[in-house]
Amino acid sequence: MVILVTGAAGFIGSWTARELLKNGNDVIGIDNFNDYYNPEFKKGNVKGLKIKLYNEDIRNYDKVKKIFEENKIDKIVHLAAMVGVRPSIVNPFIYEEVNVRATLNLLELARIHKIKKFVFASSSSVYGDRDKVPFSENDATNSQISPYATTKKSGELLCHTYSSLYKLPTICLRFFTVYGPCGRPDMAPYKFVDKIAHGQEIEMYGDGSTKRDYTYVADIVSGVLNSIDFDSDYQIINLGCGSPVKLKDFIAAIERNLGKRAKIVQKEMQPGDVKQTYADISKAKRLLNYNPKIKIEEGIKIFCEWYMENRFKS
Ligand SMILES: NC(=O)c1ccc[n+]([C@@H]2O[C@H](COP(=O)([O-])OP(=O)(O)OC[C@H]3O[C@@H](n4cnc5c(N)ncnc54)[C@H](O)[C@@H]3O)[C@@H](O)[C@H]2O)c1
Repeated sequence: MVILVTGAAGFIGSWTARELLKNGNDVIGIDNFNDYYNPEFKKGNVKGLKIKLYNEDIRNYDKVKKIFEENKIDKIVHLAAMVGVRPSIVNPFIYEEVNVRATLNLLELARIHKIKKFVFASSSSVYGDRDKVPFSENDATNSQISPYATTKKSGELLCHTYSSLYKLPTICLRFFTVYGPCGRPDMAPYKFVDKIAHGQEIEMYGDGSTKRDYTYVADIVSGVLNSIDFDSDYQIINLGCGSPVKLKDFIAAIERNLGKRAKIVQKEMQPGDVKQTYADISKAKRLLNYNPKIKIEEGIKIFCEWYMENRFKS
């Protein structure tokens, strides 16, 4: 099959492209290599990957249209996005342009070219700040607390509309805090490992009791691949680990792996941040045969080893 992966040079996109290739697919990638984080890291992510990669911006409808005309695309995995909760509060406009408008560009082209499956990367952030756990796909999601989260919810709604109007089969996957090799340098796991390894202070927002359902990237990618083959009109499915970890325990695990103590500076909780995330993954297990394998201790060990080999500067 010929699969279009948007955001192919990103963290999850590059791992997804690699797995798709391994399984014998042809992969067309689109990425604009923006400088939200170091574009050299993105170039490194796709180095040696045998995909047909377009350096284009998905906001440019005509350019993306041309890519569809040049290639016979069967299915789409739409991962390109402006990411990050806090920066979306500073510059909400670009989040709306990329995560909503450009998602609409892709859905339109999917409709025109009769694409067989549209997989959309949504986020646990659509659940907002809530006390009830675990987060289930049946829960109401009308109370996002950041522009990023709202744009992801909007993307889900657009997918629903296209599935309903045009019978475009769509699956929205709600990812929960993904970490692992090639991880994003703006995310807490990377920042903590980076700073602790260099003996620098880390900022801990809140008292360390906030919880995240950290999910290892290979597990996420297995869910993405299974969703591409899953036959359905429209589905929303959580992809998490189903096992939330307290922030202070997460930091302690990094300390153990690096053999260094963290210099923690406690700060106020940040606007847009939620107290906890915790995925109910029963639907993913049932529909996608999803079975996350890497527990946090092992995942952090692999991540720390990767960081020391690839990113640590002595
Ligand atoms: N990493 C997580 O924990 C997490 C959690 C929930 C949801 N997600 C979602 O998963 C997807 C992938 O996230 P990631 O962590 O790999 O992020 P990433 O930033 O590493 O990857 C996104 C890629 O999209 C590209 N991109 C951004 N805007 C573009 C545009 N206008 N045109 C073309 N390319 C563009 C970027 O250059 C980047 O390479 C995103 O949709 C994100 O919202 C990620």
